Amino acid sequence: MKFHLEAGFRLSADAAKAREALAEFFAGAGEIIQKGAPEGHGAKIESWQLAGNRIDLVVDSDRYVRAHDAVLRLRKPLSELLGKKYRIGVRGIDVSKFEIAVDSDRPIAHKIPYVRSTSYQDGILNLELDVGEGEMKIGESELVNRIPDRIINLLEEKFRDYGGKSEHWELLWESPAREPRSQKDPTEEMLRANWIKHGSSRGQWIYGPEGTHIFRTFEKMVLEEILRPLEYREMIFPKLDTWDVWKKSGHAQGVYPEIYFVCPPKTRDPAFWEEVMDYYKVTHEVPLELVKEKIDNPIGGMCYAQCPTFWGFLQGTTLPSDELPVKVFDRSGTSHRYESGGIHGIERVDEFHRIEIVWLGTREQVLEEAERLKECYKRIFEEILELRWRMAWVTPWFMAQEGKTGLSEMQGAGTVDYEALLPYSGNWIEFQNLSVNGEKYPRGFTVKSQKGETLWSGCSGVGLERWASAFLAQKGLDPENWPEAFRERCGEMPRGIRFL
Ligand code: SER
Ligand code: ZN
Repeated sequence: MKFHLEAGFRLSADAAKAREALAEFFAGAGEIIQKGAPEGHGAKIESWQLAGNRIDLVVDSDRYVRAHDAVLRLRKPLSELLGKKYRIGVRGIDVSKFEIAVDSDRPIAHKIPYVRSTSYQDGILNLELDVGEGEMKIGESELVNRIPDRIINLLEEKFRDYGGKSEHWELLWESPAREPRSQKDPTEEMLRANWIKHGSSRGQWIYGPEGTHIFRTFEKMVLEEILRPLEYREMIFPKLDTWDVWKKSGHAQGVYPEIYFVCPPKTRDPAFWEEVMDYYKVTHEVPLELVKEKIDNPIGGMCYAQCPTFWGFLQGTTLPSDELPVKVFDRSGTSHRYESGGIHGIERVDEFHRIEIVWLGTREQVLEEAERLKECYKRIFEEILELRWRMAWVTPWFMAQEGKTGLSEMQGAGTVDYEALLPYSGNWIEFQNLSVNGEKYPRGFTVKSQKGETLWSGCSGVGLERWASAFLAQKGLDPENWPEAFRERCGEMPRGIRFL
């Protein structure tokens, strides 16, 4: 990796009288701009030139002290030198050229912010950055904000992904084999029995009284077997996630292809919308192109991961020690994902229902709580639902949703997926997950503890469509075939709506 930077220090006055002192300073500057780098590495000043009230520098470097860091490091000692003796101030830094060369086994086709042009030759990718004043140009504040480093990180991420490294999956535990009571597709069966019907939107269902009752029974089980005994408190999390929330949760890095965007009207003045209303009244069609012109930029998207909006409640606060661990849950609304073509029945849907369980505390508290929850889940799946299920250690959801693969680097943090067999297809379906998210959320939303310990958090999503898919695929729709413990909790099925 090589950096070539041409930049100038803007001075408050002509520095001709300091020429000799400057020559001495730059001759000895190696000490400053190689400090911390391995022997023979770091940055080098190729040339410097005093031109009235500016000093122009050409700096080359490797990855150890990068050229832009070198220039920033020089600023303070230079200011001291010129300020004390010559009463000259350093006003700023102008960038006139910035080139980066990285080893790569391929060219890139992506448009990268701040990169004016790229070329590829003999295993080296050369980037020429856009420099100067103004938007999307590399100037002083971009150097200070480490934009060049972020560009390098982005490239490294792209090179890593290119290997097609797949998501992690490692079996942790498996239930005994259980004879399935059904071999049928549960969605087909529920449709036939009028328990559910297609909604008007993609991957959306309308749940009739029977389907709803199954969901409510699952909820009741989670409440009685987990949330009450473990003393979770119910909250209501917002269901519209703003960019600000997604910047802090990390979703802003990669969630775009899967979200439903939310756009407010440009104004709520009825006169502004009159044209649209009139068009509809006459044609009975909604004039979508016209609507597009009258709505504003998206302010975010519909609830996707369910826990991120909770953190606004704690954002910027310090929690007393005796408040920890904080344990809450939300079941106040739907989540929405623009799923791939593989939408299938209620197994993969664009609109779904989930109980989201969130806990936070010290690392130890969070890890212990994760184990307690796992015990509860195991009891439900083994003793009440009698499922054929398994647990796998997978790429953490908080990474996957940012578009990353692999495993977490925070020791003990990560996601367990719960999967159940669908006898009719032989596939396993993820029907819920449980994750220790490390310090990601408390850090992202600046939540501190009274004693100053690092806070961790965890979350677990209980997907009701997924539970229903797993349970009904294995046991069928006939209560006769359901385990006794579930039948008890379910009670009598409500009367469905009949049709002629
Ligand atoms: N927030 C987690 C997820 O989206 C658990 O529901 O997977
Ligand atoms: Zn979550």
